[in-house]
Amino acid sequence: MVTARAPATSANLGSGFDTFGVALSHPADTVSVERAAETTIEVTGAGAEFIPTDPEKNVVGAVADALEAPAHIHIDKGVRPSSGLGSSAASAAAAAVALNELYDRGYSRHDLVSVAAEGEAVVSGEAHADNVAPALLGGFTIVRSDDGATSVDADLSLVACLPEVVVSTRDAREVVPDSVSMADHVETVGNAATLTAGMCRSDPELVGRGLDDPVVTPARAKLITGYADVREAALAAGATGVTVSGAGPSVLAVCRPDDRRSVAAAMVEGFADAGVGARAYQTAVG
Ligand code: HSE
Repeated sequence: MVTARAPATSANLGSGFDTFGVALSHPADTVSVERAAETTIEVTGAGAEFIPTDPEKNVVGAVADALEAPAHIHIDKGVRPSSGLGSSAASAAAAAVALNELYDRGYSRHDLVSVAAEGEAVVSGEAHADNVAPALLGGFTIVRSDDGATSVDADLSLVACLPEVVVSTRDAREVVPDSVSMADHVETVGNAATLTAGMCRSDPELVGRGLDDPVVTPARAKLITGYADVREAALAAGATGVTVSGAGPSVLAVCRPDDRRSVAAAMVEGFADAGVGARAYQTAVG
């Protein structure tokens, strides 16, 4: 038996829609695999009841197919599905690593990014490597349209606050504008470059400023009950920047290490003020 762990991730980081991602030090999925004549899947843990065990419908079944590596696959979910924290990417990445080792396929972590993304595409219809790249490579990642990914280690405190509301990825993609003005493009490039420099320097001020996004985040924020309250509360408690995590509904805040606890408490309270229950992960770039 081979076991692998892959972390939750937060995609987009505001200015890097479908491009930027970051691995979180926790939560994480753990996947164990044993050789078998055909693939079977068992799921336990957070939200397991919502995850199909049919290999045709589960992302790890698609990964096993792509690697020609049939196995009994046990997924222990630490990352709740539909959270905006890369739940299916964590399972796909951990399965890709475990099956690669079980069958001695010899692929590198970079090779496995496209395998895991393909797995996600088979199940969800669209391949976005911005969650699987950080789940496999760690740190801050930038994916390009040629399937390549670049990763940078960063030391940065984060809070990911997961509310008890549901936002479908389909709805969250439907509200994304089809085009942007030149002014918004210039602002977005400046913010994305600032964020990248901030990650390279592990600088929470620069990363926080670089999260600002005039295009996608304002449209998606409307789908998350309480977003404006939570953002305001997090900034008042010391967060250097706040954005929607992935397609939502989680909200991500960047902060200095000493402020992490108070930012987490403020975000939970912000959702509570809007009548929404929530839990906050005090985490970091993993
Ligand atoms: N970049 C993707 C999005 C991540 O924001 O829709 C979720 O698949």
